[in-house]
Amino acid sequence: MSQDRWSAVDDYVDELLIGHDPVLEAALADSVAAGLPSIALTPAQAKLLHLLARVHNARSVLEIGTLGGYSTIWLARALPSDGRLLTLELEPSYAEVARANVERAGLAGLIKIIVGPAIESLRKLVAEHAGPFDLFFIDADKQSTAAYFQAALELSRPGSVIVADNVVRDGEIVDDATQDPRVQGMRRFHEVVAAEPRVSATTIQTVGAKGYDGFTLILVER
Ligand code: DHB
Ligand code: MG
Repeated sequence: MSQDRWSAVDDYVDELLIGHDPVLEAALADSVAAGLPSIALTPAQAKLLHLLARVHNARSVLEIGTLGGYSTIWLARALPSDGRLLTLELEPSYAEVARANVERAGLAGLIKIIVGPAIESLRKLVAEHAGPFDLFFIDADKQSTAAYFQAALELSRPGSVIVADNVVRDGEIVDDATQDPRVQGMRRFHEVVAAEPRVSATTIQTVGAKGYDGFTLILVER
């Protein structure tokens, strides 16, 4: 099985189960036009996250890694009108694109974009007792994923859910001699999660239009 087939199945799923959405399509088009990397979630992945938020009755979401706000919009649409979503972005120019996309989606009242190094923003949120959040989505620089998980845990409550993207990296995750700092980061993330007695977790491998990768799903137990 190949990338062509994985992409064809994603097209099939998009057409039947997701459909067209001018706001989301414009968010992606404007992200590309502004030169952002094309690494947003696929529609099928983003809808999985959206459905997870709804199944979980999430009222508050903390996203780490905004990019152009595509997953941000999908997540915010899962929240009640008095919900809140904080999203952390390092690159001011990405945050500007996301801000415009969020405004066009009519979600500016729900979403706050915080610009700067996520680890510093997280420290501030912990100091301000900004938690707990019901759902976390970690999708930023891969080297720091373990640190973002630890900060998310500090901002969680029993029952919070933490999802991380890009945790399998073409299967390179099993290569203990990898020199790729992003893969090393994801190996460290798995080790930290494995050693954390307060959570229960699994990793699911995925294929699709974005290739072969995976998500980790974590439930905070106590
Ligand atoms: C990259 C980052 C992502 O978040 C992703 O989903 C795919 C690729 C990257 O930095 O290459
Ligand atoms: Mg990602």
